[in-house]
Parts: sequence; C-alpha cells; structure tokens
Amino acid sequence: MENENKIGKRMIDLIKKLPKAELHLHIEGSLEPELMFELSKRNKIKIPYKDIEDVKKAYAFTNLQSFLDIYYAGANVLITKQDFYDLTHAYILKCVENNIIHTEIFFDPQTHTHRGISFESVISGIKEALEDAKEKYGITSHIIMCFLRHLSQEDAQKTLEEALAFKNDIIGVGLDSSELGNPPSKFEEVFKKAKEEGFKLVAHAGEEADVSYIFEALDLLEIERIDHGVQAIKSKELMKRLKEEQIPLTVCPNSNIELKVFENYKEHNIKELLDFGLNITVNSDDPAYFKGYLNQNFINLYENLDLSKDDIIKLIKNSFSSSFISEELKHKYLKKVNELI
Ligand code: ADE
Ligand code: ZN
Repeated sequence: MENENKIGKRMIDLIKKLPKAELHLHIEGSLEPELMFELSKRNKIKIPYKDIEDVKKAYAFTNLQSFLDIYYAGANVLITKQDFYDLTHAYILKCVENNIIHTEIFFDPQTHTHRGISFESVISGIKEALEDAKEKYGITSHIIMCFLRHLSQEDAQKTLEEALAFKNDIIGVGLDSSELGNPPSKFEEVFKKAKEEGFKLVAHAGEEADVSYIFEALDLLEIERIDHGVQAIKSKELMKRLKEEQIPLTVCPNSNIELKVFENYKEHNIKELLDFGLNITVNSDDPAYFKGYLNQNFINLYENLDLSKDDIIKLIKNSFSSSFISEELKHKYLKKVNELI
C-alpha cells in the first residue's frame, strides 16, 4: 500500500514536472466564475447566478447541448478588447501553473460578432495577451478560429471573409458547437476555401456523433487533426486508418466525463486508443466548466486507468509532435521532455 502511494506520488510529480502542449482549449471555456462576475459588473451585463456557489450548482451537465447553453450564456459578459485580454491572461497563468509551454487556443468569433462585438476586439485582446505570455513566460501559442456548426455554412463563409484581415494571427480553422445533426459535410465549401487561403484545418468529430462524422471530417474537410474522436473505437476500418496515418486525436477526458460521453472515468477509452497505436493527446477543452486544467486531466486518467509512466510520456510527447509549431521548435521541446525523464 505504502509502495503504491509512493509510486502514485512519483507519477503525479512527473505529470506536474514535465512541460506540455495543449492543443484543444476553447478560450471562452476558460472563463472562471470569479472573472465572469467581475466582467458582469464591469460591463453591466446580467448573469443568471447570485453567487459562485450558484454557478457551480448550474454546472451539472447531461450532454454537450446542456453545456453549450450555459457556456454561451457565460460568454455574454465578454465585451471589450480588455475583457478578451483578461480572459486569455488568466488562462496563461493556468498554463504557467500546469507547465504548459505551448498552447493552441480555439476561439468562436460568431459567439461574439453575433452580439455586436467586433472581430477585431476579440482577436486583438487574445493576441496581445499571447504576445505578453511569450515575452513574460516564454510560452508559445497559436490561435485557431472555430466555426459554430449549429449556424449555416453561409455564416461561416462570412466569418472566414472577416478573418482574412487577421490572417497572420490565425493559424487554422476548426468546427465546434452542437455536433448531432450538424455533420462536417455541411461545411465542405468553407473548409475548401480556408484550405486555399492556407489555414490549417481541424474539426470536432466523434465527440457524441457516430464515426461517419469522423470519416466526413477526414474525407470532405481534409482536416489534419481530429478534436475528440473518441467514437472512432466503434469502427475497425477507421481505427486502422487513424493508426496508419497517425492522425492526431485531441482527447479531453474531463470534458467527456462531465458531458456524459462516458459514464465515469473507468469507462473512458483513452488507454485502448493509445494501446492500439493511435496518436492521442490529452487536453482540457473548457477547464473552467469541467473541473480542472491540464494536469488534473492527466492525474484523473492516471488515478482511474491503468496508465504507465511510458503512457504518460507518450501522451505528452504526442502533444508537441502533433502541434502546428516548426520542426525545429518541436525538436527543442521534445528535448526538454527527454531531459526530464
Ligand atoms: N465548444 C466548446 N466546447 C465544446 C465541445 N466540447 N464540443 C463542441 N463544441 C464546444
Ligand atoms: Zn472542444
């Protein structure tokens, strides 16, 4: 027992000590209740909670849609460039705490432009906080803009047009929001245009919906990384392909538990995906809503599944090798990991 405790402590120390990359993080999902209250006061925007306890009670989700309804309501307090700066800066402090040295951040422009907030306020607030993070903490980053899949392709096309003025600040486009009933095929044209414009392509697929969404994301949208993708296990053909092509899956364990994709941690399939030889990474998705940042996701996995030290190291190395940084920077970061193991 004592020996087990010692090993457990050593593994948790290793998780905390190793530098990591995060590839699936919605910046709006890092809005902690404390900052939500502060911005609600600053901007005189009403929120439907009387205190922090009340917020925490409301964060009891039954599926993806039940979360999204609350998440979009929370985002209403974000108005000015300074708000987006503060939001991103708060997440950067969590990166420091979690030893995240590279992060690829999603943002949802339509959530804000549809409320009359300018694209520029959003992107410039996020970008300036990331520039300061590089200067102050040496944290590198990329920004990925996601289209909301519950809206039309025409709306996504308008958003892409607007984004072109900020092309140098946005490395890629993604697809998020309500998955069921909004398959990747709905966005084939806009992804084609984004590819022509030189954006990297990713998409949420196989979070709740079946494997056909993952096939469509790969074959019709030609994405380079799959966000979530945990339903892939239901198709042998797909598993074989993901393994052969080493297409990265940005898995978000806490999110999957909180949104009832799996009933509990013991049921999570990440170890099976990893053991099959898929390119798996661990990420926090919407950490302010899902009970913890990146280290907590790793710790929960370690404590509930039979993950070995090698598994943890592999997951962390995958996060760098699957990122959109240069080969040179990948090499530098992987060397840092190797020096600590
Ligand atoms: N937007 C924020 N988090 C999301 C998730 N887990 N799935 C789809 N859309 C999202
Ligand atoms: Zn997500």
